[in-house]
Amino acid sequence: MTERLRVENLYKIFARSADKALKMLAAGANKELVLAETGAVVGLNNVSLSVPSGAIYMVMGLSGSGKSTLARCINRLNEPSAGKILLDGKDIVTLGDDELREVRRTRISMVFQHFALLPNKSVIENTEFGLKLRGVVLQERRRRAEEVLSIVGLAKWAYHFPHELSGGMRQRVGLARALATNADVLIMDEPFSALDPLIRTEMQDELLRLQRTLKKTILFITHDFQEALKLGNRIAIMSEGELVREGTPQSIVLDPGSEYVAAFTRDVDRSRLFDAQSVMIQARSIVKSGDETVIGNAGLPGSTAFVVDADARVLGSLNGESLSKVKDGASATSLMSKDFVTVRRSTKLVEVAREYRTGRPMAVVDENDKLIGTLEPEQILARIASISPPAQPATIGDRHA
Ligand SMILES: Nc1ncnc2c1ncn2[C@@H]1O[C@H](COP(=O)(O)OP(=O)(O)OP(=O)(O)O)[C@@H](O)[C@H]1O
Ligand SMILES: [Mg+2]
Repeated sequence: MTERLRVENLYKIFARSADKALKMLAAGANKELVLAETGAVVGLNNVSLSVPSGAIYMVMGLSGSGKSTLARCINRLNEPSAGKILLDGKDIVTLGDDELREVRRTRISMVFQHFALLPNKSVIENTEFGLKLRGVVLQERRRRAEEVLSIVGLAKWAYHFPHELSGGMRQRVGLARALATNADVLIMDEPFSALDPLIRTEMQDELLRLQRTLKKTILFITHDFQEALKLGNRIAIMSEGELVREGTPQSIVLDPGSEYVAAFTRDVDRSRLFDAQSVMIQARSIVKSGDETVIGNAGLPGSTAFVVDADARVLGSLNGESLSKVKDGASATSLMSKDFVTVRRSTKLVEVAREYRTGRPMAVVDENDKLIGTLEPEQILARIASISPPAQPATIGDRHA
């Protein structure tokens, strides 16, 4: 995937002069020490990251870790103290006022936690506000505003006022306003944090649905790890102004790398995060005679094997007994059973477990129905054990105070 946004060695120091703080950080000092010695607050400490075009990139961390500072540096609501922010390879940090204004108008839109709607303007006026500032004529901006309001499901509310809307609806207006400018990069700073849990879930689903067609590049700030897992293609975790872990949701849960990150991952339901591909045994050809190919796991005696056609599509399954006969020269297609299940590689383990109850052999297939692996119960259990954190020791009997 092409890279849309790249942050390189970004620093933000809140102080009249950043020089001393930057020198201290370069020499290995941390945020606390810099504050103690210079009084400067470190917002960002040497942050680098790369956001692929079309990705939802999550920035997650505790309060004060620097998430908003990062978001605000990207369109220079905060001026970086050092470092680069490359949008399609062009450094935003060095832009002059005019160029910067142009980037904010046409390339990067922001959605905030507290909607920031104008209370005395209607929904449609709020939606078209950015376009009005850009000097887009009334008829044109109305048309565009109507279009994006219907995208976010608010067409009927165009001539109502913000106070008549629920929190979720107001946030939809915020989103519509960001979409109206046609910017291809959206920066969303905790857009759903002020919403109650049900509405929040609804908005998350809505964003995922919209993103399937919009394919914006989204930098999404959250302090909620569950939200990061649900929405993110990649997650960056921040602590004390530093980026301490970066990767796919699955890789971060598998290998948090520090106690700080591990604490977020502890309560994650692994069976909803990991998919069939992550626990399968890769398919290997074990018998091939004529146009018959049998695929399975040679290392596990007694495990199921599958007969596939020339395109690696599953035709049937063979149990251990039939497999030995095939190895001795019997025809695989005549011995195979049609009683098997196929699951897609992206099927989550909760679903796999449901299928597994039927006790039938399971094949993992890709998007073209090609066999790519097999699922064996022992392997699934072993794998789930390895991706789950050690359980707290059970308490037996009463504890004494
Ligand atoms: N304008 C400012 N002046 C001085 N310090 C600031 C300013 N803005 C942010 N900071 C400091 O920078 C650090 C990072 O703040 P930031 O707002 O980026 O955190 P955050 O991760 O967004 O937190 P939250 O989850 O609470 O929104 C904090 O120590 C904060 O005190
Ligand atoms: Mg913040």
